[in-house]
Amino acid sequence: MGAIFAAAGSAVGLGNVWRFPMEVGNNGGAVFILIYLLCILLIGIPVMVCEFVIGRHTQTNMIEAFRRLAPGRWWRIIGVLGIFVAFIILSYYIVVSGWTLYYTYSSFRGMLMDKGCDYGAFFNGYVSNPWLSVLSAMLFMVMVHIVVARGVRGGIEKCSKIMMPMLLLIIALLVLCAFSMPGIDKGLTFMLKPDFSKVTVSTVLSAMGQAFYSLSLAMGCLCTYASYFGPKTRLVSSALSVSSIDTFVAVLSGFIIFPAVFSVPGVDADAGPGLVFQTLPYVFNMAFEGVPLLGYLFSGLFYILLFLAALTSSISLHEAVTAYVHENWCMSRHRAALLVSVGTMSLGVFCCLSFGVLGDVTLFGMTVFDLFDSFSSKVMLPVGGILIAIFVGWYLNRDLVYMEVTNNGTLSGRFFGLLFFLIRWVAPLAICTLFVKGIVEMF
Ligand code: PFF
Repeated sequence: MGAIFAAAGSAVGLGNVWRFPMEVGNNGGAVFILIYLLCILLIGIPVMVCEFVIGRHTQTNMIEAFRRLAPGRWWRIIGVLGIFVAFIILSYYIVVSGWTLYYTYSSFRGMLMDKGCDYGAFFNGYVSNPWLSVLSAMLFMVMVHIVVARGVRGGIEKCSKIMMPMLLLIIALLVLCAFSMPGIDKGLTFMLKPDFSKVTVSTVLSAMGQAFYSLSLAMGCLCTYASYFGPKTRLVSSALSVSSIDTFVAVLSGFIIFPAVFSVPGVDADAGPGLVFQTLPYVFNMAFEGVPLLGYLFSGLFYILLFLAALTSSISLHEAVTAYVHENWCMSRHRAALLVSVGTMSLGVFCCLSFGVLGDVTLFGMTVFDLFDSFSSKVMLPVGGILIAIFVGWYLNRDLVYMEVTNNGTLSGRFFGLLFFLIRWVAPLAICTLFVKGIVEMF
């Protein structure tokens, strides 16, 4: 249970509550959700099982795992790639995590309880203020650093066990609130009625990137966590549990955000990174109109939980990079963590400023923040996913995979044929086709 909660703690984070609604909003609603669910089922879960197989079999970090399974071969590059992407993602992840910190502070100061406030302007004013946004990201980074420098075992697992159910409970309560909002009909239509004319290759690529991102795949985190799994842990059912919890939280977040979006004048479904931060304060204000104290408490609690969810995910990203630097560059854990923190924070500053003073600095039409986000999720994660699936499906011995999946033959292997087919054919071919088409479309 602890292992599953830790993996779920890594998976459930800003990707579910912040990034998923943003992607749904940018990609036409229900049809994106449908494709996303297919990606989770046909590609995400098989690739997660691959990471679990590699991690538990080798009991070590990602780069070392590939080195042991394929000595002297270039497969190690998959690990290197994963660690590199984790570094890039962490550098912009801390920016949004910093926002959660600021919003927690603001809600406890009562700044989010003003019904007449324009929360769109509130958000824009905050993110374009270079001092405030860099300070929030830095504070967040310091917290992540302290945990990682001290070692993450134990604390994170225990923390995840309490936080995950709490986050689920709060989200479920907010869904009920969202159902009483005036925009509920439009919100539900947007979430549930697919418009297939809106599907492009880019929509599918975004859905796949989101699935990888949300499940924490292809970055070495789950592989590293799986190295702590015991011999009795059931890999397939663990993958199913983690994916279900993760998908459930993401879809529920959509059910909170979109009824709110359509209830609030001036906020569009495709508002981008600020979407969640601009709409949620309205939800709290409208849902608890008669009892402001309840709204105050709910909003504070929600942002604390969002902050904690961001913290567990950031820690797993940081840990993946730190563990590698610590073990392979012969550095003490403290020094390795410091190097990673300073490195990510230096990049993070540019991401922070891309909402303000560096807003006009673009490459391929994207700001630094958007570029890091798109490049990692649309390019690097699919490439990592293809390589992991090919490694397990074609390079590793089938019997080794069978023994890991069935815990040395003690579990039923009835669905192994189907799973192996998905790993061997469906995942690499689907990711490869989408990836190539998506890149061609981009340029
Ligand atoms: N899955 C996390 C989220 O949805 O917020 C983000 C993440 C964490 C990605 C850890 C990758 C990772 F290794």
